[in-house]
Amino acid sequence: LGKRMLVKKAIFPVAGLGTRFLPATKAQPKEMLPVVDKPLIQYAVEEAYAAGIRQMIFVNGRNKRAIPDHFDTAYELEAELEAAGKKELLDLVHSIKPDDMECIYIRQPKALGLGHAVLCAQCVVVNEPFAVLLADDLMVGEPPILRQMVEQFEEWHASILAVQEVPAEHTKRYGIVAGTAVNDRMMDLTHIVEKPAPENAPSRLGVAGRYILTPGVFREIAQQPRGVGGEIQLTDGIASLLRREKVFAYRYEGRRFDCGSKEGFLEANVELALAHPELGAEFRRFLQKLAL
Ligand code: G1P
Repeated sequence: LGKRMLVKKAIFPVAGLGTRFLPATKAQPKEMLPVVDKPLIQYAVEEAYAAGIRQMIFVNGRNKRAIPDHFDTAYELEAELEAAGKKELLDLVHSIKPDDMECIYIRQPKALGLGHAVLCAQCVVVNEPFAVLLADDLMVGEPPILRQMVEQFEEWHASILAVQEVPAEHTKRYGIVAGTAVNDRMMDLTHIVEKPAPENAPSRLGVAGRYILTPGVFREIAQQPRGVGGEIQLTDGIASLLRREKVFAYRYEGRRFDCGSKEGFLEANVELALAHPELGAEFRRFLQKLAL
């Protein structure tokens, strides 16, 4: 891998069925659920953009028209806002897809798992390092989490996974890693295992939905049998990659809201509403009244 390789592409796997959010996700993807006023997928795309990435690759399945529509031009809406002189709203609508950002859509024909979704984007990524962002992990940090990881990548030139400490009883929800610390935030990985029971977990460091991966991972994923849940797991591909290449885990600076769960989704809405420049003050008063 060339020393000057930049991360220019991001993969957004958005083909999940979102069953945990039914009925809200019957006819729309879970990634379109809004936190305050913005769909989850837009938070993730903005995070990738802030990390310098300009090519956004969405791997989608059925019922995902809303995502391409969201990042496409909305002629009728724009014409009406223009005619009504609503300049601010028009700018807001335009800002969803800056001119220098490119969106690419790939169809995942069957929901065979996260590893399989990433593999579906191989034809576009080919031989470059790339990012993977799972939009149902809403990440809040300054600088944004993926930006922190790109900075690390420029130093280490190897795959990097975002990790955080998770409670022992939650290891079953995550890819869990172990390795050797190289500094207070970076760890040289020796192990990664998908969703182990607490007694089998090699540590309590869980992978959050942000990855920077070298293209070597494609070949490894392609060789994986079905893993946990009968799915082709990205974690298994990474486990086999780390036998050939260095892989690092990075303890990011910031917070993660697990918007794949109802609790996490509600927490994100409350916290981001409180931090919202226009809604925050009033919403705080409302919550204080409720708490009495
Ligand atoms: C996926 C990954 C898992 C990772 C998690 C982060 O699991 O397979 O390794 O820790 O995302 O959110 P999922 O949440 O899709 O079950």
